[in-house]
Amino acid sequence: MGSVARRPIHHDGPVRTQVAIVGAGPAGLALAHLLHLQGIDTVVIETRRREYVEKRVRAGVLEQPTVDLLREVDVGDRLAREGLTHHGTTLRFRNRSHRIDFTGLTGSAITVYGQQEVVRDLITARQEADRPLLFEVDDVRLEGIDGERPQVHLVHQGEPLQIDCDFIAGCDGFHGVSRPTIAEELTTFERFYPFAWLGILAGTRPSSQELVYASHENGFALHSMRSPEVTRQYLQVEPDEDLAQWPDERIWSELRTRLFDEDGFDLEEGEIFEKSITPMRSFVAEPMQSGRLFLVGDAAHIVPPTGAKGMNLAIADACVLSHGLGAFYAEGSREQLASYTQTCLRRVWRAEHFSWFMTSMLHRLNADDPFERKLQLSQLDYVTSSRAAATSLAENYVGLPFPTPWRWKD
Ligand code: FAD
Ligand code: DHB
Repeated sequence: MGSVARRPIHHDGPVRTQVAIVGAGPAGLALAHLLHLQGIDTVVIETRRREYVEKRVRAGVLEQPTVDLLREVDVGDRLAREGLTHHGTTLRFRNRSHRIDFTGLTGSAITVYGQQEVVRDLITARQEADRPLLFEVDDVRLEGIDGERPQVHLVHQGEPLQIDCDFIAGCDGFHGVSRPTIAEELTTFERFYPFAWLGILAGTRPSSQELVYASHENGFALHSMRSPEVTRQYLQVEPDEDLAQWPDERIWSELRTRLFDEDGFDLEEGEIFEKSITPMRSFVAEPMQSGRLFLVGDAAHIVPPTGAKGMNLAIADACVLSHGLGAFYAEGSREQLASYTQTCLRRVWRAEHFSWFMTSMLHRLNADDPFERKLQLSQLDYVTSSRAAATSLAENYVGLPFPTPWRWKD
C-alpha cells in the first residue's frame, strides 16, 4: 500500500501543506501526530514500505517522559497493556549483581516496549486521522529552504510529486537527505567506538525481571526482553564483525559466560529468530535548523545504544518542534522556532554524555591496558554503592524532563 490516507494524493499539480515531514520513524510520526492535534496540516513521506518500518527491530526502552507523552496524546493504550514497566536495572560485574532502584531513587520507571510497536501505534493514529503518509517514495529533494515557500520534490507511484509547504521537518534518520542538504552550514562532533553490538531476538523466557547490563573481561553483554516469551540480548563484538562467525551455539555460550552470576542466573537458550550488528557512534550536528528546515532525531544526532536514549531523544525533539510550530501558527511567534536548536541541544548533549559514560564504563576497551579496567571497576563500585552516584545514573536513565510541553497552549 502506498499511503495510509483514504483520500488519494493527486499528481496533477503541487500538493500544499503546512509542514512536510520527511521520514516515518519515531521522530516523523510523533511530530505528525502532535501537529495534527494542534490542527496543523502535514504530509509525511517515507522511502520504505509500511511493512518494513513496522517490523524494523531497534530500540526497546522508553523513558518515563516518553511514556507520559504517548499516553497524554492518546497513543498509549497498547503501550499501557503490553509495555513492561521496570522499576530498576541490574549492573553485573565481577560476576555479581548490583541493582539500581530507579523508582526508589527517582520516583520514575522505564517501560520496555519495542520501537516498532511505537511506530505501529503512531501509524494507526495517522490512519485514524485520515492524514497523508506516503510510503515507498523515491528521489526526495528539498528546495527553497531559505525562502518562505520551501518544496519537497519526490517520486510517488512512479509519478513526480511536488509538496509546497511552510516548513520541512527532516526526520529521515542518519542516512537521509535532510542533513546533507545543509551540510555546509553544520559543525559536526563525532566519536567512533572500536566495537559493535550483535543483537538477537530469541524465543526464550527472560532470566531476570529487569534488564541486566554486564561488564565482563570478554566484553559487554545485555540481557533484555520484549515479552514474557521473547528476549532481546546483545553482545559486544568487533566493529567489522561477520555474523557468519556467530552460529547460535557461540552466541549462547558467550552470553552464558558474560552474564554469569555467582548467585545464580539461569539463562534459557532457544530459537534465535533475528540477528543483526549495530555499529556504535556518537554524533551531533549543530545547528539543528537552517532556514525553514529543521532536523529532528537521528537526522541530527546519534548516541551509542548503551544508554537506551536514541528513540527517546527523537521523540523529545519532535515535542520541542511541535511546541514551536504551535506558537508560530497560533500567534505568529517565531521565538520558539528560533531557539529550537538551543532548546534541543541542551538535552541532546546530556544524553550524549550519559550514553558515552555508560558505554565507556561497561565495554571492554583496551585489553592491553589493565589500568583502564581498574578505572571501570572503580566506577562500577561507585555507582552501585553511593546513593548519590546511583541517583545520578538512575535520573539520566529514566529520562530528564522534556524541555517544553508538546502543545503551544492548552
Ligand atoms: P529513524 O528511526 O531512522 O527513522 C527515519 C526514517 O526516515 C526511516 O523510516 C527511513 O526509512 C526514512 N528515510 C530515510 N531517508 C529518507 C528520505 N530521503 N525520504 C523519506 N524518508 C526517508 N536506540 C536505542 O536506544 N537502543 C537500541 O538498541 C537501538 N538499536 C538500534 C539499531 C539500529 C540498527 C539503528 C539504526 C538504531 C538503533 N537505535 C537504538 C537508535 C534508535 O533506533 C534511533 O535513535 C531511532 O530510530 C531514531 O528515530 P528517528 O525517527 O530519528 O530515525
Ligand atoms: C535495549 C536496547 C538498548 O540499547 C538498551 O540500552 C537497553 C535495552 C533493548 O533493545 O531492549
